[in-house]
Amino acid sequence: MSLPGHPHIAYRNGALHIEDCPAADLAQRFGTPLYVYSRGSMLAALAPYQRALAGRRHLVCYAVKANPNLSVLQTFARAGCGFDIVSGGELERVLAAGGDAGKVVFSGVGKTRREMARALEVGVRCFNVESTAELEALSEVAQAHGKRAPVSLRVNPNVDAKTHPYISTGLTHNKFGIAHEEALAAYRRAAELPGIAVHGIDCHIGSQITEPGPYLDALDKVLDLIEAVEAEGIRLTHIDFGGGLGITYTDEAPPAADALITALLKRLDDRGHGQRELILEPGRSLVGNAGVLLTEVLYLKPSAHKNFCIVDAAMNDLLRPTLYEAVMGIVPCAPRAGAAEHTWDIVGPVCESGDWLGRDRRLAVQAGDVLAILSAGAYGMSMASHYNTRPKPAEVMVDGAEAWIVRERETVADLFAREQLAR
Ligand code: LLP
Repeated sequence: MSLPGHPHIAYRNGALHIEDCPAADLAQRFGTPLYVYSRGSMLAALAPYQRALAGRRHLVCYAVKANPNLSVLQTFARAGCGFDIVSGGELERVLAAGGDAGKVVFSGVGKTRREMARALEVGVRCFNVESTAELEALSEVAQAHGKRAPVSLRVNPNVDAKTHPYISTGLTHNKFGIAHEEALAAYRRAAELPGIAVHGIDCHIGSQITEPGPYLDALDKVLDLIEAVEAEGIRLTHIDFGGGLGITYTDEAPPAADALITALLKRLDDRGHGQRELILEPGRSLVGNAGVLLTEVLYLKPSAHKNFCIVDAAMNDLLRPTLYEAVMGIVPCAPRAGAAEHTWDIVGPVCESGDWLGRDRRLAVQAGDVLAILSAGAYGMSMASHYNTRPKPAEVMVDGAEAWIVRERETVADLFAREQLAR
């Protein structure tokens, strides 16, 4: 039976499997800590997006930041996706993975002129511009290259996405987007600038959103704005509605992607905007539940106050628990049938009290066991660091019974290869 929210991860004959690969075997073969991704799960997560958008002008732009491994990008490129990028680095990854620059949207509040020039050179589909200062700079860069930059303005609809404050982006106190009241003036300016070609409108209200209400409220505000902009003779051909759809980590029940999209399309149709191309930028909902982080139990440290289960993965490998107090499922790869469970804090070797991966978990564990931290496919490896001079984990892709390395484990020597002793 597969785990809730994880159709490609299941216990079979008492062993956790990722697709047809026993997780404990992967840990043995490739070492721990180890990120493992299911290709079938990624494609299965994409399918409802494609199904709900079939017959409409649309582009699904996978948000690279969620998991930028080249093999992940390649999987989505082959499935016909475009990409949402936020840096020149992500652009180069997309190109290296065989992605089409013409299907790339470039988001972010701080694009440098160098990044703009490179994106113009390779011909990205659209720049999602987040301020008038950026608009002026982009116009200059485009003119200097004899081009006009295709642009959407990212508007901030001041809608509460009802998610963690660190991953909410659509409120006036967030740094993102152009305030709704200022957007019309920004569009007027964009239409005047010689290096800018206005193409669309963009909005992204946050991440790990688990209800449709905030999306529909934001869409209404975006449509109001489109009508106001077009009343001035500025044509907008596409709506980029960002990403943000949540996943089930433990007991969340977000809408299914196809149900959400159907509701959005209905609102577009009802308001007479059905002909517009819809761009979406999902990240987490495509890869989150496709990935696990495998980690070996090093030591058990029970005490009168608290029981600690010390594992070989740490906050540098998976930052979400400590940064957002995120609760991610933690399960044994080979459950000990009949053994007594105790309550453990799952912690890593890093020298910070904030280095925890799970708190107060009921588990029957022993040193040497391998645990799987679930829903780690999104914002896991992409937010990993080298803190405490810890090499980043290896990454493995699974397809059926096959598994292969898609990023080698770093060595300690890699970590200081660019450093020099003082004179
Ligand atoms: N588009 C834009 C402009 C974004 O800023 C983001 C995410 C996405 C799309 C993709 O959102 P998604 O579908 O993945 O929710 N590190 C945090 C999440 C940060 C999200 C940042 N922006 C976490 O681990 O929860």
